[in-house]
Amino acid sequence: MTSSIAPREARIRRALDHLRNQTTDDYGSIGSFEATDFTDPGIAARERDLVFGRVPSIVAHTSELPEPQDFLTLRMPRNQIIVVRQKDGGVKAFVNLCRHRGALLEEREKGRCRLFSCGYHRWSYDTDGSLRTVTRGSTFGEIDRADHGLVELPTQERHGFIWLVDDADADIDVADWLGPDMDGVLAQYGLADLVAFQAEGFEEPVNWKIMQDAFLDGYHIQYAHPNTAAKHVHTNVQAFEDFGRHCRFIAPRKTIDRWIDEDPGDRSLAKDVIETHFLMPNSTLLRQPDHFQLLTFRPHPKDPGRSRMEMRLIVPKVEDSGMDEESWSRLWAKNWKILLAVLHQEDFPLLRGSQSGMESASAGPMLLGRNEIANHVFHRELRRLTQETP
Ligand code: FES
Ligand SMILES: [Fe+2]
Repeated sequence: MTSSIAPREARIRRALDHLRNQTTDDYGSIGSFEATDFTDPGIAARERDLVFGRVPSIVAHTSELPEPQDFLTLRMPRNQIIVVRQKDGGVKAFVNLCRHRGALLEEREKGRCRLFSCGYHRWSYDTDGSLRTVTRGSTFGEIDRADHGLVELPTQERHGFIWLVDDADADIDVADWLGPDMDGVLAQYGLADLVAFQAEGFEEPVNWKIMQDAFLDGYHIQYAHPNTAAKHVHTNVQAFEDFGRHCRFIAPRKTIDRWIDEDPGDRSLAKDVIETHFLMPNSTLLRQPDHFQLLTFRPHPKDPGRSRMEMRLIVPKVEDSGMDEESWSRLWAKNWKILLAVLHQEDFPLLRGSQSGMESASAGPMLLGRNEIANHVFHRELRRLTQETP
């Protein structure tokens, strides 16, 4: 039946077969972990340096910086950052710190500006990072301005996202990090032609891995989200692909149910599934039938018990949507509101509880089932990065 259909449709049919048989792809073994993974300051320091300080992670969608001189600021685990669109259309990232006496240079979350101007003694910097003005220069003394520009971080735009390595001395090669499989997958999606309808961050008193784990988890849906997500998506059914560093899996939506007893033939079932991509180290990209959601998770710079989640709803531009602007806005605003409600009312309270539980001195070891397959990949790859000797 599946011999002549597209590979994705074949994977969807594999998910459908799992649904029929009440099975799922699995990891092959049960894993165990310790509560201290989420509380230990030494582990958190290794993650900051050996993960975020070494490998690219997504910080924004391309559409969030549409014009030259558009900028956004963020706190990475190791640096305060400014990301800014250049006059030539490229993107640069800098440490958000004045090279005079270290004031936070740009305090706004985002905006557009010709110069970054420090609030302390009003030194100013071009959007390409070069030091433009030293106020009262004749009394300050002679300096070579070329040596005192903003400190640049490696950044790159690829597949509609802005990626960054959180270390000024690191190199960045996103294609190499993604590997040919995931790079090819993302290339097909045309994410650069879409737009981030909304991007918002949430600071939570929860370790970033507890957060990331929850958004790779197809096992909790029916139990934690019985009246919301579970009405639309099947629990614990996954057709999985492990790409070695990143992975993806298809989960059936409930609209597929009519094909449980009936043969769908070679018709497309693309509208009947959600495909989840895990992009190591800290992103979940959900491909819905008509849009994407990107969820990213970042450790707090100091406290292992805190993190920031960012959510982005990435959708076709209004002019490509076949809708007028008002209907387009109404549709995605409604979608966003539903997502927020599930996060704030269902996921976050559960995960805050999880963090406080993990802080128990006698927590004892815990388990990851064979069915929690993407979580295995996440923790396996994290071990690979944090346990290699620098
Ligand atoms: S610290 Fe920025 S101008 Fe002095
Ligand atoms: Fe959830």
